[in-house]
Order: sequence, then structure tokens, then C-alpha cells
Amino acid sequence: MTTYSDHLPSLDHQPYQHLFKPGFVHRRLYIDEDIFQQELLYLYGRTWLYIAHESEIANPNDFITRRVGGRPLIISRHATGSIHAFFNRCTHRGAIVCREPRGNTKGFICGYHAWTFNITGECTSVPLRQGYGKSFNLAQASLQPVARLESYRGFIFASYSKDVPSLTEHLGAAARLIDQWLDRGEKEPVVVQNGAMPFLVNANWKTIYDNAGDGYHPPFSHESMLKVFSNRYGDVDMNYYGSDFDKSPMYSKNLGNGHTFLDQRPEMHKLSAWKRQHVMPGYEVMENALIEKYGEAHALPMLDASTGSGMNLNIFPNLLIIGNQIQMPEPLAANKTLLTWFATSREGVPEEINAIRMRMQEDFPSFGEVDDSANFEACQEGMASIPEMAWIDIRRHQDTKVGALDPADQLWREPMSSDLHMRTYWQRWQELMNAGATRALVEAGVA
Ligand code: FES
Ligand SMILES: [Fe+2]
Repeated sequence: MTTYSDHLPSLDHQPYQHLFKPGFVHRRLYIDEDIFQQELLYLYGRTWLYIAHESEIANPNDFITRRVGGRPLIISRHATGSIHAFFNRCTHRGAIVCREPRGNTKGFICGYHAWTFNITGECTSVPLRQGYGKSFNLAQASLQPVARLESYRGFIFASYSKDVPSLTEHLGAAARLIDQWLDRGEKEPVVVQNGAMPFLVNANWKTIYDNAGDGYHPPFSHESMLKVFSNRYGDVDMNYYGSDFDKSPMYSKNLGNGHTFLDQRPEMHKLSAWKRQHVMPGYEVMENALIEKYGEAHALPMLDASTGSGMNLNIFPNLLIIGNQIQMPEPLAANKTLLTWFATSREGVPEEINAIRMRMQEDFPSFGEVDDSANFEACQEGMASIPEMAWIDIRRHQDTKVGALDPADQLWREPMSSDLHMRTYWQRWQELMNAGATRALVEAGVA
């Protein structure tokens, strides 16, 4: 089995060590532009990144463009069904070739001097080609593909370095949870082609990643939202955050390789998840229509499976599966991140089910994400503006000795409110960043 540190010289080079102490991380990790640029090289450049879902390019000659880990990409599907990903950067003078977010085409013509590329990125023509002489080779002018490209059950991942383990090894225990997310209810294929909601957040990408596994904040950050729901609709979803939720069966888990999992299913799906939903536009109309068509015994499980998954599955560094949605944080600067929520639907289910899924997926980003975004920006401002206070606290449940191996899978779990998530990914962060910094020294001939 290969690891991310394979082929490194035995050089004990740990340039970030002074930014960590047990239970704390230094504010520079969130605000320093040099560290941010190093992250793009050493971390985003050296691990698997989620780039798209196969359903976003469902048909032959479909393409999308997207920045992932700072690099503009074209992700496309050939007529044979094969999937391709290459840098959206002209091999001539470096221009962005395709300037559309998505479409269906047989090829791409660069707007500057009209070099032309087909759907798999091969260069097919260059105007006035004779000007380059006889040695010019079209094949050498093709758009550069990513170094590795693999899919796991519809989720497309790329690596910009070929020197990474297989995707399956990288996903590890997270793969089984992707399976559970996909195979819920009647297991119809998931479709990610329902529009997306992008937020520009004035905060470091890790403030978002921190929050994705933070089971401590919901009753406090989202207090007003939860109060509106319970005042209007009584004992509805998320009311289980009302008391000491660390005593609940919900938990936080370390999946390895920086991936983590918050499991709310033991509470959210304890009774009928559908019956505990608060009222939403069309709730009764759609429920009645389904019961009429399929009978209550069949309709209720379908409705239950349409509600949020109760899962926060965080695949380091840029895939967050939350409820029924997919979130991608795209780092733009040390203090700027584009965060996109993708709604999902199911292929081949009654239209009412997808309508209900959509109403529920509009709900949290509209009412809850504003709370979270305000906190991301408040953290960034506090961390950036007070040099006298350097450290960020990630100690929750570090010393309470309540963590344990889950007998079902031998993975480490801690109570819901633990900072296990942050301690887990920061460890992965250090491994990748130290390896990257060591490599850079070797390449510079210093070591
Ligand atoms: S930069 Fe693309 S054709 Fe010249
Ligand atoms: Fe939140």
C-alpha cells in the first residue's frame, strides 16, 4: 500500500510545527497568504480532490468548467461515455480557453488566437499552422489532463499529482458511508443537476471545514431558526439539540486520512423523519398526492427517505456531504472562499419526492447557512485583527476520556460536540504540508 509520504527522503523537516500545540492551532494557519499559497501547492496539489458529479455531465459532449484547488478545469464526457478532466489553460499563451460554466459541444476554441481543442482536450487545429514550421506537433499542444482521475459511485475525483494512493485507499472508511448515503431508501441514482447556491465567504476555507464537523454549535448558532421552528411547529427535527446532546446516541467519528463523520441519524431517523419535518410549501399537498397514488404503507417510507440524510460526511479537503446536499468549498485567498451548495434529486422517483427534496434543500441554506457564514467571517476577523491572541482552541473532549473504538467498525468515535473532527484533519494537514515542504527542499537541491 502506498502512502502520501512514500518516496520522501528521511528528512525531519516540519516547518509548521511551531503553529501547533496540544489542543490549539495558531491563527497564522488561517490568515497567512504564504501558507495559503503553500496549501494550494502542497495540499491541494498532492491529494485527491472532488471535482464534479457524473450526472453534471450526463450526456455525450457535455462539459462543465470549475475551479478546484485554485486550478481552472474543464470536465467533460466523450461520445463513448468516457470522462475527462484537463486544465482550462491554453497551451499557446496561457489564456482560459473555455469561458462558459457548462454546455454541450464538440470542442473548444480559444478566444485569443483560435487554437482549437476537442472534447477530450486534444488540439485539433492551429490557425496558420505553417508559421510554426515542420517540427510543430499538434499532439504536443493538447490541453493538459489532470494527473489522476477516478470516480467512486458517481463522485469524480482528480489529483494534480500522480504520486497518490488509489482513490479507494484515499477514501478508506468514507467509501462505506458514501454507499450508505447513496443506498438510502429505494436506491435510485442520485442526480446533481438541480442548480447550485454559491456563497462568497470572507473567511479561510478551513473555517468552513471546521464547521462541517462541528456538532457543538447547532443549538447556539442556529438558536433563532430552531426557536421559530419549535414555536410554530412543536417537536420537530433538530429539537434533540435542546438538552445535553453529548448524552445522545449521535456521535463524531474519525474515518482516517483527514475524513470525518457526524452522525445525527440516531436522533433524526429514530421516529418517522418525515413526520418530524417542519411545515414547508406544499407539505400536505405532496404528502396527500403520494398517499393517494401509492397507499400510506408505501408512501411513508418514500417520504422518510426524502428527508435529510442525517449525515455530515466530510471528505478532506473539499467534499462535504450534508443532509441531501453536496458542498464544495473553493479556496480563493487566505480570507476568501467560494462555498457552493449543490442540491440533489433522485432519478426515476415520483415528481413529488423530488419536489419535497428540493423544498427541504432550500430550507437550511436559506435559514441556517447565514448563521454559519456570519460565524466564519467573525472568526476570520477575530483571528486576523488581534496579534496579541494567537491560539485557536480545539480541545473539546480531548481529555475527557469518553472516546472509544466503535465495535462495529473499529473506528474512533467521540460525543457529538467533540473537536475530534478538527484534531483529525489538522493531523492530515500537517502530514501533507510537511511532505510538500520537504519535497520542495529536495527539488530546490537544499536537501
Ligand atoms: S492563447 Fe489560446 S490561442 Fe493563443
Ligand atoms: Fe451550522
